[in-house]
Amino acid sequence: MQRLTIAIDGPAGSGKSSVARAAARSLGYVYLDSGAMYRALALKAIRENVALGDYAALETLAQRTHIELKPPTPEQETAGAKNRVFLDGREVTEEIRMAEVAQSASLLATIAGVRKVLVAEQQRAGSRGGIVMEGRDIGTVVFPLAELKIFLDASPEVRAKRRWKEHLEKGDKLTLEEVLVEVRERDRRDRERKVSPLVRAADAVLVDNTAMDAEETARLIVMLAQERQKELPSTAGRKT
Ligand code: CDP
Ligand code: CDP
Repeated sequence: MQRLTIAIDGPAGSGKSSVARAAARSLGYVYLDSGAMYRALALKAIRENVALGDYAALETLAQRTHIELKPPTPEQETAGAKNRVFLDGREVTEEIRMAEVAQSASLLATIAGVRKVLVAEQQRAGSRGGIVMEGRDIGTVVFPLAELKIFLDASPEVRAKRRWKEHLEKGDKLTLEEVLVEVRERDRRDRERKVSPLVRAADAVLVDNTAMDAEETARLIVMLAQERQKELPSTAGRKT
């Protein structure tokens, strides 16, 4: 069977990481959270006091940063981590999940030069197929020829509630209203930016999982992947 490239895009809290990781596991594929790369770079910019308005400095920062994603340990997985994230060799799996980092990530994600560096890394990581990659521009820019594209969505209220619960479990004292504002603000910026905005690819399957749990949604995606595999000729093609 051909090992597919599966692209999952969607707004914050739509379930991309949980669903993509579970689907990758069932299919025996690699899972990659492209958002973790934007978050890791944002964390470095915060730590090095690089202004988020200084596009040239951020592009240079992206070029001299090494980000590595690895599968989580069983303990990290129980705590909710889907990927271990290493920034210049140091683990930042937990730090990158702070709300402040998410906002900074969506600011630097508007910069074309930064995206160019990270997209090239993502394309390298997925060049052999057999991967489930999730983000905002995977089906439109990173792998426009992916054999299966999913646009995952859920209502903003449900998405914010899911994120809020995660913050609560970690002991963060954010209110549901604050999380809803954060999520709406980031969605707006991600959808309205000029470079690679969050948009459903014309050939993506829209999956609204407002009323579905992550396991159910992952099962649906595995089913779609199996159907797509049956339709395809056995030769693998280039995805970028
Ligand atoms: O990656 P993304 O921001 O799209 O979402 P996520 O991190 O996978 O999911 C956010 C939270 O919602 C996680 O705690 C998931 O377990 C939960 N979730 C859910 O309750 N129901 C779903 N259908 C999908 C995710
Ligand atoms: O987990 P959540 O959906 O909240 O966000 P994420 O996937 O970790 O991504 C954080 C931010 O990185 C997003 O709000 C986007 O601005 C940016 N991003 C992007 O522009 N393109 C991607 N392929 C992935 C993330």
